[in-house]
Amino acid sequence: MKIIVNLRTISFMKLSHRVRQNLNMRKYVSDQHLADGEVKKQKIPLNIDINMLKIGFLGGGKMAQALAKGFIRAGLSKGEMILASCLPNDTGSIETFKKMGSNTVFTNIPIINHSDVLILSVKPQVVPKVLSEFRVHDNKKLLLSIAMGISLKSLEKALPKETPVIRVMPNTPALVGCGATVFARGKYASDKNAEIAEKLFSSVGICEEVPENFIDPVTALAASGPAYIYMVIEAMADGGVKMGLTRPIAYKLAAQTVLGAGTMVRETNLHPGQLKDDVTSPAGSTITAIHQLEKHGLRSALINAIEAATLRCKEVSLQINKN
Ligand SMILES: NC(=O)c1ccc[n+]([C@@H]2O[C@H](COP(=O)([O-])OP(=O)(O)OC[C@H]3O[C@@H](n4cnc5c(N)ncnc54)[C@H](OP(=O)(O)O)[C@@H]3O)[C@@H](O)[C@H]2O)c1
Repeated sequence: MKIIVNLRTISFMKLSHRVRQNLNMRKYVSDQHLADGEVKKQKIPLNIDINMLKIGFLGGGKMAQALAKGFIRAGLSKGEMILASCLPNDTGSIETFKKMGSNTVFTNIPIINHSDVLILSVKPQVVPKVLSEFRVHDNKKLLLSIAMGISLKSLEKALPKETPVIRVMPNTPALVGCGATVFARGKYASDKNAEIAEKLFSSVGICEEVPENFIDPVTALAASGPAYIYMVIEAMADGGVKMGLTRPIAYKLAAQTVLGAGTMVRETNLHPGQLKDDVTSPAGSTITAIHQLEKHGLRSALINAIEAATLRCKEVSLQINKN
């Protein structure tokens, strides 16, 4: 039998194999930040077929939808492997999950019973109510909590004894594969549990293990961060419009500039100050603009914003964990 193979197909297959290998390398090598500041490179073995895991979202709001779409987009999960609980009046969320091929239910019990991995994605105030539903069923499935401010200790206390828990802090750009996520594992979470968290969240961006005391500042920097950058994009575009650009081109250029600058910092590994110096010529327009930004306290505003958001996280955390 004669086999005709298209040369382009072979090179595509070779290329996609290489790309896949690179992706796997990148995805499953993460940095573990130890409490004393040391960074340990860890290689996580690929021995779980994560595509076969049934993922259950307890709370099907904005972040759950972003993650579910991100997992599907990354090819890590299929719509039918995802189940989410939504309140009956939340028709928008129900419709969004339906479009992804996922089922929704109005209570959490079916999610707890039928999923392999649970993602706790309700607002922090609702967490105690949802966790009380676990007690009834004495279920010890892996729980990934993305709820702001709820400590591992509080989660473990509220759950059946020895439930493996991992605290995860993602952000909404996970929706487009550009998420920035960290996680901290609880007392009963094994390496395999950490591997599941790592695989899930590195499929939608970067993911690193950190000590739990990093979570509040990470929430302030990376989880709230997209909101600050949307404001920066809007303001830069306003500047462009003030100087005569049309709205569409101004937004497009501002967004692409933020994306480009972020990519430069990540890909070149150069200090951001060095990159700034490289585009700042003597008596030029960039240094003139930078002077204005310094005068109006851009750096202090951002430092203060992240400090204030961290303190607010700690405040909310104290209130919730006290109850
Ligand atoms: N958004 C972010 O950028 C971000 C980033 C990192 C972490 N987080 C964390 O992610 C969690 C969810 O945030 P979100 O922005 O996605 O909030 P959200 O859009 O309000 O999502 C929460 C969802 O849970 C539903 N819900 C309320 N009570 C419930 C119950 N008893 N059982 C099941 N579902 C219930 C809510 O329905 P109703 O709306 O009808 O009440 C809502 O759809 C929060 O804990 C937050 O701290 C968010």
